Amino acid sequence: MDFVIKPAGAFDILAIRRLERKCFGADAYGARTLLKLMSQPTFFHFKAVQGRKLVGYISGDIRNGGKEAWTISVAVDPEFEGRWLGVKMLARLEEAFRDNGAQEIRAVARKSNRASLAVSRRNGFVPIDEWPNHYADGEAAILVRKELTDSGKKKDDSLQTQEVA
Ligand SMILES: CC(C)(COP(=O)(O)OP(=O)(O)OC[C@H]1O[C@@H](n2cnc3c(N)ncnc32)[C@H](O)[C@@H]1OP(=O)(O)O)[C@@H](O)C(=O)NCCC(=O)NCCS
Repeated sequence: MDFVIKPAGAFDILAIRRLERKCFGADAYGARTLLKLMSQPTFFHFKAVQGRKLVGYISGDIRNGGKEAWTISVAVDPEFEGRWLGVKMLARLEEAFRDNGAQEIRAVARKSNRASLAVSRRNGFVPIDEWPNHYADGEAAILVRKELTDSGKKKDDSLQTQEVA
């Protein structure tokens, strides 16, 4: 069955919470935090679903006067990893950022998070900085960035995913 990427809303919070617990353990957002993030107009949330099952979630926000966007969280159910859902959800989030006037997108990932860094690299991000001791356990973070130009609107067909509003 095909995967569909579409906006996520308050009705998805329990499923997102379950997914985030699977992917981030104790670091997962609580339901109340998710609800708060969803009520902010500068935040964007998308989900990947297969049938009725939520298998992926991505969120981010536009800040600093509206030009700069940040990816906050991306998670794919471990059973569904490696099927380009991370790459496709990030492409969809980028489209929303671009449509809302952002000119660049940034994200940070643990230096050891090869999957997360591969997803951003595949979407055209480049590493621009390393922040030592960024995480509580002492691990460094890698800051990645991508410029959002109008030409980015021309989507790579191989990344196209059907979207149902
Ligand atoms: C990071 C994550 C979202 C990737 O999702 P995904 O749908 O499996 O990724 P994709 O299928 O789109 O893969 C894209 C790239 O990641 C690579 N990748 C996927 N899983 C990987 C893994 N476990 N180890 C190394 N590379 C991996 C793929 O090989 C591909 O790289 P390539 O373009 O060089 O071939 C997913 O692994 C996840 O949810 N991880 C836990 C949560 C997390 O760490 N989120 C990021 C920080 S917020």
